[in-house]
Amino acid sequence: MKQTFIIILSLVLFACNRPTDKTQVLQNRIDSLESKLANTYKPGFGEFMSSIQSHHSKLWFAGQNKNWKLADFEIHEIMEAIEAIQKYETERKESKSIGMINPALDSVNIAIQQKDIVLFKRSYSLLTSTCNNCHRANDFEFNIVKIPETQSFSNQDFKVDKAK
Ligand code: HEC
Repeated sequence: MKQTFIIILSLVLFACNRPTDKTQVLQNRIDSLESKLANTYKPGFGEFMSSIQSHHSKLWFAGQNKNWKLADFEIHEIMEAIEAIQKYETERKESKSIGMINPALDSVNIAIQQKDIVLFKRSYSLLTSTCNNCHRANDFEFNIVKIPETQSFSNQDFKVDKAK
């Protein structure tokens, strides 16, 4: 009797340990989802930076034209791109120092909210040198950003009254 019980018990345990067809199906799905995830497109660090470069330029002309609504939009686009770098570029060591830009971004943001052109110019200049400080800290010192001289987006109007 005892023997039979042990045999039945070992059979039950054996059956439990064996992957059933169902778990195999689930495992296959997990494998296929993992491989899909690994091959999903995500923008590279340089692509985020190119987008930041455009917003950095547009921000300047928006501020110069006292188009505060547009300036507010542009500064938030830069902030979002910085957040996206922190979220999606975790494997790049440079992402660790991206936070150094935040105080300068906050300062430009305050100038925009206060519609203060003098503070805007000063904090924009600080922002631009912080971009370069981070490039230097990450051996990208050859990538120099500066305050733009001419507006390179001829298909966009930065003046306030025309935006109405
Ligand atoms: C982590 C600190 C960091 C900060 C802060 C930073 N950058 Fe960069 N930037 C990089 C790195 C790293 C690269 C090189 C990316 C790559 O590998 O393609 C780069 C590249 C660039 C490029 C070259 C893109 C190209 O393909 O030509 C531009 C332009 C640029 N940054 C503009 C800016 C501007 C404008 C700011 C400030 C608003 C800024 N960056 C702030 C790290 C930073």
